Amino acid sequence: MAAGKSRQTTPAARVHRELLPDQSTALLQQLHLLTRDGQLNADARRKLKQINHLANLLTPDLERLFADDRDPLIVDAGAGNGYLGFVLYELWCQLTGRGTVLNLEVRPDLVARARERAAELGYARMVYAQKAVAELVPAGDLDRPPVWADRPVDAVVALHACDTATDDAIELGIRAGAPVIAVVPCCQAEIARLLAGTAVRAPAGALWRHPIHRREFGANLTNVIRAHVLEAFGYQVTVTELTGWEHSLKNELILARKVQRHNGLALRQLQQLLAGLPYLPMGLLQRLLPEAPAQAVGTEPDDAPSTL
Ligand SMILES: C[S@@+](CC[C@H](N)C(=O)[O-])C[C@H]1O[C@@H](n2cnc3c(N)ncnc32)[C@H](O)[C@@H]1O
Repeated sequence: MAAGKSRQTTPAARVHRELLPDQSTALLQQLHLLTRDGQLNADARRKLKQINHLANLLTPDLERLFADDRDPLIVDAGAGNGYLGFVLYELWCQLTGRGTVLNLEVRPDLVARARERAAELGYARMVYAQKAVAELVPAGDLDRPPVWADRPVDAVVALHACDTATDDAIELGIRAGAPVIAVVPCCQAEIARLLAGTAVRAPAGALWRHPIHRREFGANLTNVIRAHVLEAFGYQVTVTELTGWEHSLKNELILARKVQRHNGLALRQLQQLLAGLPYLPMGLLQRLLPEAPAQAVGTEPDDAPSTL
């Protein structure tokens, strides 16, 4: 079945099948993911599947972060209603009495509502900052790690953070040296926009000549570059589906775990990849890897522009 088409409601008696160990229906009701009579409608079920699956995949990382009485700081970038953060809080911060979830969200209405919910639930360390993700990243000096209230960032998650907000989340995590970064990208317009202004004479130009190809190719290329950048900064990266495609079309999970300081081989591979493409001044590359090749094939203005 195509994504977004299932309208089935899960009756209250079967909702427990969708839950993680230690997850309460009370929280899901508070978040309005469950109806008042405890049912799960189709849209909420899709959202819950994504969140729970991500929370579940992060379990080994969170076990490490919460080990030995540690008090980690988890950042949810582009948090929206904070569903993911609330679930992580219940399963980890509430159960251990340690850890903070810092939610970064630009929309004041969402921030206000989530703060109310956190207060009602007594989730004192479920914090909302009305800030763009990039505001947490100090400009310039890569050796100056982002901190919040003098605390280092231990994990960055971003579920469907819009367009380049995902890149800001990746940059935040990399610059913080966060042990784990998990992003499920949303819409991606930056690379498609950059490709639209480039020549299509080079053989590879056929990949982005038509707008629909450009959008899809741009989205794929964006995620390929993101994965390489993470690897170049010493992360071991896995790229998988988050849930079945029937639950979401925005379904690519880039999960990165810090294993070394830098990875020169990955950097060279990224540089080779970029060398076969037109000059793409993608913000993430410009900020983190300004030494990546500035100019490659097919960059000159063309008499066959890619915008049709
Ligand atoms: C598609 S929603 C996803 C929300 C949530 N992560 C979820 O999965 O339910 C994206 C959210 O990111 C917020 N957002 C977009 N750009 C942002 C930025 N640069 N910094 C912080 N929040 C941002 C939007 O206001 C919106 O609430």
